[in-house]
Amino acid sequence: MTPDLPPAKTIIEPFRIKSVEPIRLLSAAERCRVLEEAGYNLFKLRSQDVTFDLLTDSGTSAMSARQWAGIMVGDESYAGSPSFQRFEAAVQGLTGLENVIPTHQGRSAEFLLMQALRLTKGDVVIGNTHFDTTRANIEHTGALALDLPCQETADTQSEAPFKGNIDLDALARFLQKDSRSVRLLIMTVTNNSVGGQPVSMENIRRARRIVEPLGIPMFLDVARFAENAFFIKKREKEFEGRHVREIAREMFSLCDGALMSAKKDAFGNIGGFLAIRNPELAESVRSLMVITEGFPTYGGLAGRDLEALAIGLEEILDEDYLTYRLRSTEYFGEGIRSAGIPVIRPIGGHAVYIDAGAALPHVPWREYPGQSLSVALYNGIGIRSVEVGSIMLGSRDPVTGEEQPAPRELVRLAIPRRVYTQSHVDYMVEMIGHLAKRLGELRGYAFTWQAPVLRHFTARFKPLG
Ligand SMILES: Cc1ncc(COP(=O)(O)O)c(C=O)c1O
Repeated sequence: MTPDLPPAKTIIEPFRIKSVEPIRLLSAAERCRVLEEAGYNLFKLRSQDVTFDLLTDSGTSAMSARQWAGIMVGDESYAGSPSFQRFEAAVQGLTGLENVIPTHQGRSAEFLLMQALRLTKGDVVIGNTHFDTTRANIEHTGALALDLPCQETADTQSEAPFKGNIDLDALARFLQKDSRSVRLLIMTVTNNSVGGQPVSMENIRRARRIVEPLGIPMFLDVARFAENAFFIKKREKEFEGRHVREIAREMFSLCDGALMSAKKDAFGNIGGFLAIRNPELAESVRSLMVITEGFPTYGGLAGRDLEALAIGLEEILDEDYLTYRLRSTEYFGEGIRSAGIPVIRPIGGHAVYIDAGAALPHVPWREYPGQSLSVALYNGIGIRSVEVGSIMLGSRDPVTGEEQPAPRELVRLAIPRRVYTQSHVDYMVEMIGHLAKRLGELRGYAFTWQAPVLRHFTARFKPLG
């Protein structure tokens, strides 16, 4: 007989490795040189010079052996390919939504939906917090993209379990005042813009109950639906014993449609879709998409991509994988926090957000503490992160043109799916621990060049002092 053993504390990947890719370990002097050449902008680094690329979790997943096998059987017929039929069946089976329309990525699904709804000036689309491409696609039509995040979001250190929720009272108040202009509600699960925080089933249900009697459709942005469903299982009592597939199904049963960037929770390197209940709305999307995406059975993708996504949508619902995924991200965040660097709490599903403003109190916002910390993470450790602070989200006073700070100075460390191992995470935590003791030595940065829009992608900087 085997004695009962306690559960292991060590996190393991529930997969083994069949194919590997080398990562380069540059010396500190080499990293210093490439940083200077890149104008201290991490977007301008060559990815070969990065050891741990935590710039994004989007399109960066490792595909499984089954997905690669799917690539080989992809059928590239222009219309009605069996690869589309398999993709359609996978999305219908997952969501229960009849009309499945592939798109080349998430933002094209957003574009098509907003155009098909014929949004115009004076219209409003409410969200728990719109992702930036969603906002851009709404505003492009002249409509207003209104965020109503719940109150708990404001306190970055509280442990509230569902900080991705929408503020239901604010939603009801807004609709009482003016429901006619509201054309759509979008619930983004998980809520990327507030740190990958989950949305509870209770919140989705109650939001639905508010908008349904008014005839306002509710869509879900499901880029990270499986991570959200697993948080529900872990944190919402009613769902404790339910399989994540059933939880996801219940989320989908509450909506009129879903938009997905399949570059996240479908383990895709490219792809997206719209799944819509209303056949007329779906038909408008199909008529529109031939102008930009192509025929409605491939939507800008190759047949092989559709195969890989169909398999990825099934693999993401493996609870061993999701246990590892959320625990490993949490472990990374806890490690950074134990080193004395403040992070947004609780740790979200796909990323750890460092509060660089609090970590570098001696660097004023005008000298960009997020930039200072993200350059140090690369220079010292080879980690590429992204500043989500006044460089990316700062604004200008419309009258004086004066630069205004972002609400927070954050650095995001997004974790690609199935790419880095737990020993990579341990290495990063150890090295961040060393860096944490030297934060007082970090200095700010100034722009030497910036573009008028989306400056963070192309700007150049110089270190100060
Ligand atoms: C919540 C959410 N919605 C939409 C998108 C846009 O998707 P894509 O990058 O595939 O266009 C993203 C991308 O990061 C996202 O996180």
